[in-house]
This record gives sequence, structure tokens and C-alpha cells, in this order.
Amino acid sequence: MADIERYRPEDRRAVDALYRRVFGNDAAEASRLRWDWQYRRNPNNPGHEPEIWIAREGPAIVGQYATMPVKVSIRGHETQGSWGMDVMVAPERQRQGLGEILFRTWDRNVGASLGLGLSEASYRLFQKLRWPDVGPVPCLVKPLTRRALRRPNWPVAINRLVSALTLPVVRIVARTRPLRAEVRLIQRFDDSFTALWDELAPRFDFSVRRDAAYLNWKYVSAPHVRYAIAALRRDDRNVGYAVYRHVHEPRGRVTLLVDFLADPADDDGLSTLLHWVDREARHVDSDKIRAFAMHAAFRRVLRRSGYFQVKSTMEFVVKVNGVDVEPAFYEALDKWHVTLGDSDQDR
Ligand SMILES: CC(C)(COP(=O)(O)OP(=O)(O)OC[C@H]1O[C@@H](n2cnc3c(N)ncnc32)[C@H](O)[C@@H]1OP(=O)(O)O)[C@@H](O)C(=O)NCCC(=O)NCCS
Repeated sequence: MADIERYRPEDRRAVDALYRRVFGNDAAEASRLRWDWQYRRNPNNPGHEPEIWIAREGPAIVGQYATMPVKVSIRGHETQGSWGMDVMVAPERQRQGLGEILFRTWDRNVGASLGLGLSEASYRLFQKLRWPDVGPVPCLVKPLTRRALRRPNWPVAINRLVSALTLPVVRIVARTRPLRAEVRLIQRFDDSFTALWDELAPRFDFSVRRDAAYLNWKYVSAPHVRYAIAALRRDDRNVGYAVYRHVHEPRGRVTLLVDFLADPADDDGLSTLLHWVDREARHVDSDKIRAFAMHAAFRRVLRRSGYFQVKSTMEFVVKVNGVDVEPAFYEALDKWHVTLGDSDQDR
């Protein structure tokens, strides 16, 4: 039987080799580039060590559960949460109960065990272990050009016809509107964003703590992607932010609204940020903007700003251990703030 222990620096080579076997060469290369930042430099690491569990059988490593510790605010109470990320079991040892032992060890050690954007196998395992299933996180898309509605699985002629028919609607949705507050591009999050988070945290039933240390780690020092950060300002104060980047996808250019924050009651604030992102997206000739948002008030503003809700595949499971919550907590999701920036979804 395997022993489950914490990761030690000398495990790195064996873990890399297992990762390559389970996820393939490309994913392993990408993971190697992110590894130090993702696991070692996370400001929320307990004891400043990576939060990774290893399954050992004698000298061999047969599984790992690598996680991203975060502070989670649950109705204003903070607990040490943890996104489960790179979980794997050696192919010849799968379906023999090792995954379950790894999931349970992780869960016993954290105040909230969280999973986002899961593989079929891990989603099934979470279901088997009865983790509350609160997803998927809604996905919203704003079309900016007639290419926005193309689908990779449709023939070219159909794509052209749909583009032509929907053009008038796209033109109305995508029209430029004036900004109603000041928006400024910033290079780093200063301490005023920690104060903003402390002020806003009690308005969310569930959200990862978005303080300056976390935000700078996540969006300023990530080695694999480059983000733009826009601060929303009113009366000389930072009252919100939006993090975004532009990507090429097979059917066109997409601006990803990766993360954002504002007072959920401040409709004008979020819509000003969204208009800023519209302009930036248009500037680089994006066909659409894509966002993930769970909070009902944020989604309302997104819809009013021209976003449409589309099918989402970003599964989300949560089990809270460190704060007392009743079963109904997992059903009232309107005040939960979760975005594409959470966990390691944007990679
Ligand atoms: C996910 C993973 C870690 C689970 O480990 P495991 O040791 O196989 O899991 P267990 O034996 O404890 O549990 C088995 C349960 O997991 C689920 N499961 C595991 N592999 C599955 C698969 N290929 N398809 C569907 N469900 C699967 C099922 O619920 C299964 O229960 P069942 O055997 O009664 O049907 C392992 O399958 C793995 O390494 N997969 C490839 C990497 C991966 O997808 N990682 C998750 C990234 S989010």
C-alpha cells in the first residue's frame, strides 16, 4: 500500500517524469515553466513550502496531489482554502483507490478543498466522494465582430451565413460607449487593493481573498502569460480592477476578461471597467470577449454590457471544512465570486 507524505525537494525529478507519463510532453513542458512560481512562490503557502502530497511505494512515486493554497472568505470569515490542481496517479495504478486516498488526505488538511475546471476522471471521483457540486461557473461572451459567432464544427458556408445574418445585432452590441469613471492601466497592485478587498470581502458569500500579495503573484509575476491590469478610480481611490489578455484561438482573436473586482452594488463601476476592456479588445481587433462570472449582480452588469451567457464547461466543486456552513450554503450561489483567474484555469 502507498504512503502519502508531503513533497520533498528531492522528489522533483521523479514527479516530473510521472507528470510526463500521465499528461504528455507538452503539458509537462508547460508545467515545468510554471512550477517554481506556481508551487514555491505562492504567498499563501503554509510554512513557505509547496502544498503537495506524494504517494510513495518503496522508492517509487506513484501519485501526487499538487495544490494552490489560497485564503477563502466565506460570508466574511476567512479559512485556509486550497485549489486541487495537478492530481495524478501512475497509469498502471489508476482505479485502485489511490486517487481517493490522495483526495481525502488533501481534504483533511485544508479549511476548504476546491476544484475548478476538472478532467472527466477527477470530476467523477469528486462526485463519487460526494463533494458538493456547485458548478459549472457561468461563461459569458460579448461579440465584437461578425467572426465572433463562428463555430469550428460548422461548415464554412454556414459560418458565413450566420455571420451575415447576425451582423446588425453585433454592431449594436459592440458600439462604443463613453467611460463614466476614471480607468488607469497599472503595473502592480499597491496596498490600497488589500484595503479594497478587506472592505468588499463581507459582501461575498464565497471568494478567494484578492489582496495585493495574491494579485501581484497571480497577475504580475506569472511566467507563462502577460496580463494587462486596469484600475477603476473614483475620488482618487482604487475602487476596482480588471485583469485581461488577448489570445489567438483557432477561429479568431479573443480577449479574456480573466479577473475583476468591484463592489457588487456598484453597477456603474463594473460597467466602466467593461467598457474599458471593450475598447482594448477592439484596439487589438478581437472578435469577442470571454468572461466567467458566478456572482448574479456581476452577471447582470455583464449582460447589460452586451455579454451573452453560453454553455460553460468549467466545473466547480467545493467542500468547506474550516467554517460552519449548512447544506443550503452550497445552493445559494448568487453572491459567490469566481472567475477564470481562480485556481490555475488560465494557463
Ligand atoms: C484522476 C485520478 C488521479 C484518479 O485516481 P485513481 O487512483 O484512478 O482514483 P480511484 O481509484 O481512487 O477512484 C476511482 C474513481 O475515480 C473516477 N475515475 C477515475 N478514472 C476515471 C476515468 N478514466 N473515467 C471516469 N472516471 C474515472 C471514478 O469515479 C472511479 O470510480 P470507479 O472506479 O468506481 O468507477 C487518475 O485517474 C489520474 O491520474 N487521471 C489522469 C490525470 C487527471 O485526469 N488528473 C486530473 C486533472 S484535473
